[in-house]
Amino acid sequence: MRTHYCGQINAELAGQEVTLCGWVNKRRDLGGLIFIDLRDREGLLQVVFDPDQKALFETANSLRQEFCVRLSGKVNRRPESQVNKTMATGEVELLATDLEILSRSEPLPIDFNQQVSEEARLRYRYLDLRRPQMNEKLQFRAKVTSAVRRFFDDNGFLDIETPMLTRATPEGARDYLVPSRTHKGRFFALPQSPQLFKQLLMMSGFDRYYQIVKCFRDEDLRADRQPEFTQIDIETSFMSAEQVMQITEQMARDLFKQLLDVDLGQFPSMTWHEAMRRFGSDKPDLRNPLELMDVADVLKDVEFKVFSGPANDEEGRVAAIRLPGQAENVSRKMIDEYTQFVGIYGAKGLAWIKVNDRSAGREGLQSPILKFLPDEVIEPLLERTEAQTGDVLFFGADKANVVAEALGALRLKLGKDFELVSNEWKPLWVVDFPMFEVADDGSLAALHHPFTAPVNVTPEELKANPAAAISNAYDMVLNGVELGGGSVRIHENAMQQAVFEVLGIEKDEAQEKFGFLLEALKYGTPPHAGLAFGLDRLVMLMVGASSIRDVIAFPKTTTAACVLTDAPGAANPAALQELGVKSIVKEDE
Ligand code: AMO
Ligand code: AMP
Repeated sequence: MRTHYCGQINAELAGQEVTLCGWVNKRRDLGGLIFIDLRDREGLLQVVFDPDQKALFETANSLRQEFCVRLSGKVNRRPESQVNKTMATGEVELLATDLEILSRSEPLPIDFNQQVSEEARLRYRYLDLRRPQMNEKLQFRAKVTSAVRRFFDDNGFLDIETPMLTRATPEGARDYLVPSRTHKGRFFALPQSPQLFKQLLMMSGFDRYYQIVKCFRDEDLRADRQPEFTQIDIETSFMSAEQVMQITEQMARDLFKQLLDVDLGQFPSMTWHEAMRRFGSDKPDLRNPLELMDVADVLKDVEFKVFSGPANDEEGRVAAIRLPGQAENVSRKMIDEYTQFVGIYGAKGLAWIKVNDRSAGREGLQSPILKFLPDEVIEPLLERTEAQTGDVLFFGADKANVVAEALGALRLKLGKDFELVSNEWKPLWVVDFPMFEVADDGSLAALHHPFTAPVNVTPEELKANPAAAISNAYDMVLNGVELGGGSVRIHENAMQQAVFEVLGIEKDEAQEKFGFLLEALKYGTPPHAGLAFGLDRLVMLMVGASSIRDVIAFPKTTTAACVLTDAPGAANPAALQELGVKSIVKEDE
């Protein structure tokens, strides 16, 4: 129906006849002429209708916003004075010779020139996606997936699909369940990831696998979490953790170079311990210069229980953040707000000291806790925190995980509020994670997933002291976002059983849930390792979006619903009957 896209029309085509298809982006009537901006996925082009062409002009006169049209005409260079530098096609315009209205549009239900709620944008997503800024993001995403496929194809990885109707694949979220009609009372789970299948493919000898694949997790949603999202999933045999990191780092570097002309350089590595100690996070944003500093040893003998309690507790931590040079800009009101903010993460308070004059010792300090700090700790405290005149010190004292979370979050907030975050790309690997995290009730959970191999222990040693075990896992982090995570896997039945045991999964339960894996591990399983990237997060960062919803064509709302199709919907009673499923929820609940 057409010869070109709007965005392709340029001065080289001047004098040529072209035919275009697209939407009326804007219409203006000026001095007896009608101008429209015609839009398609490649851009905008100005079209002029001459009143001397009566019938054509009449049809043009009936055009309204978002009519879908087919247009022919001659490409004309614009006079120098009328060149529009803000438009990619601004050097030319089309003098229309033919116009066909393919489809009319009612006035749009939303006006994108105004502030539009996200709910409305999602309800009319097909219109939202007509906007060039949304369209560009999805086009960019397609370039990313295409480059990713090329990279893995070129490196000998095979694209193999894995099932969507399967058993639970534990990645730490709730499952989406699908009832089975042919096995009444039984359910499939949608995969939280292809983890077990990609391991089985290694057992089958495929050696290098990749897949760009949907994963499903019923968890609390945030800006970088969706209930269905996409992974770039890879698995390899006979490769060490370092080799997997090398090749996936190369993929990320190539992508940024090709698509953004950014050189990410070599990624530094940091242990999980260092990340938690310095940044209070396992996905530190290294663009932010603020760091946590431990001060428990300095404060362990003070009478102020808020500090000395955690300072003398093996599981406690006392740490400080120094905000340089902002003492005059930090008001009481802001401190109250920051105190509330850290409260979200479980902190019971936020002690602070303003350093008004570093050379004046105690006299130069301003703080509600000054009275609790004896002279002999003041100087060591200021030295440890490298305090200077004009700084504000914030303190967290609690269980180590509470301090890390609270001050880790405060660090990010201060970075944002005081515009300390540099405009760079800061990738890193976080490595040497603990195998298990201890829940409040003392039970252990896998920090990655239960198929991750520990470093250098026998199954017996692991069972004897699980809390000390380090996993052979690695996370790729970019600008404070966990882009991907992976690990060397357990490839021996005895070690897999030991991990299940430590996790409190009884033998029978392990057999029932993962019998197929335990059995497969008996037949010559190669050592294997892999990683999965969050594709949505990768694209979000690359296009500078603040939510992965902006780079997903049809995302869910934060309550995991689709407002466009009104899903999830009620099931019809006959279908439920056939599935052997009965709802216990009353209609009005
Ligand atoms: P993990 O659970 O770390 O590992 O997931 C890998 C990556 O997927 C992305 N991601 C998400 N993105 C959007 N919404 C979500 N709800 C969501 N959850 C995770 C993150 C994360 O880094 N099977 C293992 C990988 C492996 O060991 O090979 C796994 O799924 O970017
Ligand atoms: P209080 O004696 O409880 O009024 O606390 C004195 C100061 O210590 C206040 O500024 C509190 O915000 C702060 N504070 C209280 N608990 C903690 C804590 N766990 N960590 C850091 N600061 C705290």
